[in-house]
Amino acid sequence: MAKEKVVLAYSGGLDTSVIVKWLREKYDYEIVAVTADVGQGETELTGLEEKAINSGAAQVFVEDIREELVTDYIFPMVQSGAVYEGKYLLGTAIARPVIGKRLVEIAEKVGAGAIAHGATGKGNDQVRFEFAIKALNPYLKIIAPWREWEFKSRSDCIEYAREKSIPIPVTAEKPYSIDRNLWHISFEGGILEDPAREPDGGMFRLTCDPLDAPDQPEEISISWEKGIPCAINDKELAPLELVMELNRIAGKHGIGRIDLVENRLLGMKSRGVYETPGGTILAFAHRELEHYTLDRETLHYKEAVALKYAELIYYGLWFTPLREALDAFIRTTQETVSGKIKLKLYKGNIVVGGRESQHTLYHQGMATFEADELFDQKDAEGFINLYGLPLTIKGMMNRKSRQGHEQEVAKN
Ligand code: ARG
Repeated sequence: MAKEKVVLAYSGGLDTSVIVKWLREKYDYEIVAVTADVGQGETELTGLEEKAINSGAAQVFVEDIREELVTDYIFPMVQSGAVYEGKYLLGTAIARPVIGKRLVEIAEKVGAGAIAHGATGKGNDQVRFEFAIKALNPYLKIIAPWREWEFKSRSDCIEYAREKSIPIPVTAEKPYSIDRNLWHISFEGGILEDPAREPDGGMFRLTCDPLDAPDQPEEISISWEKGIPCAINDKELAPLELVMELNRIAGKHGIGRIDLVENRLLGMKSRGVYETPGGTILAFAHRELEHYTLDRETLHYKEAVALKYAELIYYGLWFTPLREALDAFIRTTQETVSGKIKLKLYKGNIVVGGRESQHTLYHQGMATFEADELFDQKDAEGFINLYGLPLTIKGMMNRKSRQGHEQEVAKN
């Protein structure tokens, strides 16, 4: 009889290499290793298939989902304006649902009954993977070895690997946990666990230290079509290329470093350091264009939606009715978010250089301090009287009760 199959979210690192062996021993599964290429880079991806087979996998898939990640996940997130706790551009969180989706698709293709992942029992990622799996195929069994096995640490894993002669990936031992994709790199744990200490400068990979950035500002422009970035310096670029190019430009100017103590979904605070160079520029420029094109009430309402949308992404609630409903709202708001934003990049900073849009609601004739015919200043008086009526009434009542009180005092 053929063995039951399990799809394993495989990264090629120590943990998932150990998991391959452990799953075979514990459950007697046939292992189908799946690696999603989300832009983590060549060093992580080369030799992966061989590595997986050597660790004991029966079949390996390396899936390039970069395009899908940018187009169907990251760009809608940019349109929403989502930023978690005012700083985190959600680089890890946004990649999880699309990885989960591909794991489910492959499980169904190969006829696997279960999906396993190497996320730990303390973090957000386990929740995000499993919510995606449950939403898309609730009949798949989920196995999270870190919540099940007796290993407590990396050194336990290494010991097990030695015992079972599992080839240990030769990557140098890192003093923190790293998650990289085309949108960002995250660093957590290890020496970063002390929030009183700044990260050591040698850690960063996508951005230079702002102090070492060029002494001359660089001017760039980003063009947008309905809230989607489509060109840099008037050169049209496909979504993936555009993000890569912005990563390069922003990284050169030391833009996009974030250091944050954030609230995890499971309740504890944790310290994370992130590099999101291109994303920082896109978020900035998109906000700028919205300020220029959206009416006041929509803009303000959208700020509230962005907070909720960021929570949904962070909490792994992507495949939900609420996210879809908010998308419908956001899509409508983006109809007029087209135009061009010029920026100056200088030593970790982004400064607005100019705005252009055929859809702008900015009307110089209305806003001007010069004489104009459009706006009758006399109208303002009636507006102030009516809009201020509640506070006028409240003021009258306050005075009346104070007078009553003073008369009381005078009588006694
Ligand atoms: N704290 C961030 C988040 O929850 C980053 C997580 C990084 N994950 C990892 N497996 N290294 O989204």
